[in-house]
Order: sequence, then C-alpha cells, then structure tokens
Amino acid sequence: MTSIKGTNLAILASGTGTNFKDIVESAQRNELPVEVKLLITDKEEIGAIAHAKNLQIPFVVIKPRSFLNFDDWDHEVAETLVNYEIEFVVLAGFLRKIGPHTLEAVKGQMINTHPSLLPSYGGKGMYGINVHKAVVENGEKVSGCTVHWVNDHYDEGQIIGQKQVEVLPDDTPESLASRVKAVENPFLIAVLKSVLSKNQS
Ligand code: GRF
Repeated sequence: MTSIKGTNLAILASGTGTNFKDIVESAQRNELPVEVKLLITDKEEIGAIAHAKNLQIPFVVIKPRSFLNFDDWDHEVAETLVNYEIEFVVLAGFLRKIGPHTLEAVKGQMINTHPSLLPSYGGKGMYGINVHKAVVENGEKVSGCTVHWVNDHYDEGQIIGQKQVEVLPDDTPESLASRVKAVENPFLIAVLKSVLSKNQS
C-alpha cells in the first residue's frame, strides 16, 4: 500500500449504521487516516443509508436478490470496490457472507466487528440481539466485542482485538446489547487506527 494517510475506505453495513457514522465522523475530524469513499449495503431504507446521506458519503445498494447466484453478487461487490479504488474495507453490521472476489478486490484488507467474545457466540445466525440473548440465557458473566480479519467463513478470521463487558445479574439482551454497543464503536475505531498504522510501517 503506497499511502496510508487517506487510505480509501469502504464500509459495508446492513443495519442502523452507528459504527459507520462514528468512523465517518472520526475521519472527518482527521482522527483516522482514511477517506470514507463508499457505503455498500444489501438493503434499502436502513439507518446506515440515512447517515450516509447526512454525511454526504456515496452509497450503493447491492441486493443479492438482484443476481442469479452468490458468485454474480460477489463479482458485483468486488467490481464496485475496484471502481471506487477501495484499499480497505470495514464490515460494520453487514449480514452477508463475503465472497472470494470481494476479498481479493482489497487483497484481504478487510475487518469485521462482532458483538461477542469470539469464538464464542459467532457463526451463522449469531448476529444482533440473537447474540446477547444467547449470552444472557447461558448465564455468562462476561461478554464484549471482537474485531477480526475477514475470511470466507462467518466470524472465523484471525482475531485482532477484544474488549470485555461485564454481564450484570439483571441484564436483559437489550440492556447488554446497548452496553456492548457503547464500547464497540470507539473500540472499532481504535483497532482500525492501529491496523492502518501497522500497514504503514
Ligand atoms: C454491531 O453490533 C456489530 O458488532 C454487528 O452489527 C452491529 C452493527 O451495528 N456486526 P451498527 O449498524 O453499526 O449500529
């Protein structure tokens, strides 16, 4: 990678987009050496798109349903990343499996944030409130979030960092979710900063 100051970043999201918003705002305050060039979503009318409009970030909706098969969808996502000259991708609540063409388009420079201490509570179906429900139901004392490199299996890439959050005796899945989220947003930004600075050196 030639220049890290202003690494071209894309964020992929399927939901409320709080992580997307925080990354864009940090970049706009010059606290992160990235230019957020693009939001890619797999759905219309989600919070992440509303944030992209407010923050004037281009967005592209690439719905799997519009393609014959996974491979064609994967090609379209990859081609979009190449067209926008994207060097690094953050998955921030993106609920689709990433395909090999998409990974190759950024040479594997792709990280994901997950709201549990992986490898616990990861994998297919383990997203959003499902994760926190399972953590509370199993009587865990500690949960948290994980940032990891992405490969073509759900939540299985190499772990970069984790942040723990105590599970309180009276926690509901919702209360735990909101405390994990509060920790997760700044943690993702800190990890992103650190990964980019290591790329640079
Ligand atoms: C985060 O909790 C992340 O761990 C998970 O999806 C959630 C996305 O939240 N993968 P938001 O859309 O950024 O608010």
